[in-house]
Amino acid sequence: MGKEPLNPYAPGAGHSPPYLAGREQEIEAFQKFLSQKEILKNVILTGLRGTGKTVLMDDRFKPMAQEKGWVWIGSDFAESSFLSEGNLCVRLLTDLSVFTSSLSIAAPDGTFGFDIGPRSKQSLSFEFLMTYFESQPGLTVDKLKATLEFVWKVANARDAKGIVFAYDEAQVVRDREDKGQYPLAILLETFQSLQRKGVRFLLLLTGLPTLFPKLVESRTYAERMFAILEIGRLSKQASQEAIEQPIKTSRWRFTPASVQEITKISDGYPYFIQFICRETFDHLLSNPEDATIPIDAIIRKLDSDFFAGRWEKVTDRQRELLYCIARLEHADDEFTISEIVEVSQKSTGKPFVYGDVSQSLPKLIGKGLIYKNRHGKYCFAVPLFSQFIHRQFAEKERQTRLFE
Ligand SMILES: Nc1ncnc2c1ncn2[C@@H]1O[C@H](COP(=O)(O)OP(=O)(O)OP(=O)(O)O)[C@@H](O)[C@H]1O
Ligand SMILES: [Mg+2]
Repeated sequence: MGKEPLNPYAPGAGHSPPYLAGREQEIEAFQKFLSQKEILKNVILTGLRGTGKTVLMDDRFKPMAQEKGWVWIGSDFAESSFLSEGNLCVRLLTDLSVFTSSLSIAAPDGTFGFDIGPRSKQSLSFEFLMTYFESQPGLTVDKLKATLEFVWKVANARDAKGIVFAYDEAQVVRDREDKGQYPLAILLETFQSLQRKGVRFLLLLTGLPTLFPKLVESRTYAERMFAILEIGRLSKQASQEAIEQPIKTSRWRFTPASVQEITKISDGYPYFIQFICRETFDHLLSNPEDATIPIDAIIRKLDSDFFAGRWEKVTDRQRELLYCIARLEHADDEFTISEIVEVSQKSTGKPFVYGDVSQSLPKLIGKGLIYKNRHGKYCFAVPLFSQFIHRQFAEKERQTRLFE
């Protein structure tokens, strides 16, 4: 018996897709930002959960930058990086030291008298950067600027085209007014001031759409410092490629009708495409005679794998509120408090008044289900969430009927 072909599809946060489809515009735009003579614009890459931010950054932006001679450093931002200004500096210098450790400078010569040989070299390790940082005069922001500027001088002398500071999950950025700590403000101020001096650092922040408003809230000039690349659904053609390309060389093929069906159900969202394709392909391998897509089973699995964890975090009353939103015609676009109130008054349950909604929304934002967009309206932070909510309530109703 021949070996079973491996299922190539890769649903999962940060899992490289077998074929990265579409995103040509964003790739071209990023290319332009790398070609800036003076770095005047930094980049925000944003989109809902599972739209492909991480893989676009890792599989496309990074190799592109490196090919052009840029150094690429960075990691995920965590809440802890923004607890204090000191934490943020340690985060940046830790990531930077991965690159700088391979650089060295002549050690300062503190001896008198005879020259006893070539001066020793000093590597720019994390300890070195921290000692340099601590010995600088002024406030934290001055120390950070001085250290980064020093690193740039050394890197520039080694022909680096620039340094990209790439941070994923950057929606956690924040200042801590309550603690008198302003890590986000320091981050923005440092980059802006160094870039003005001609230092070729580019900040690339990737995260949920809540990110940009937070930057502007901290420093209004952030609006001018960043260009926003927003990614969402793949086009029809890109969806088709994402579905078909991975199995191009295998003996299996999706029929045109299946491709259409998968594109429709996934609505072009990359995570859902990977998920549905993987399940379908598995089904095909274990039931070679059955050429249909077991769509109901796949959606049930998707509900439990992707949505259920988020749904469990909300109370019954919050679920009712979410159901009101899901019933809006433009639930997948943007909505306002008044619109939610209006729908709730037309429905049979206990209606929501304006105050209820305005108090509940921040809680749902905190749970990562909703966000406030640039126009001050609200949106779901999870793609295809409204359809899931409808399924939950339909199921609930079905069960109520069964047991009454
Ligand atoms: N352009 C694409 N073509 C095909 N598959 C893709 C594409 N972009 C992303 N994917 C797939 O979609 C899934 C989600 O990608 P990724 O983790 O990069 O999303 P994300 O936007 O970073 O999500 P999160 O907000 O949860 O971090 C992965 O399984 C990935 O392989
Ligand atoms: Mg990600």
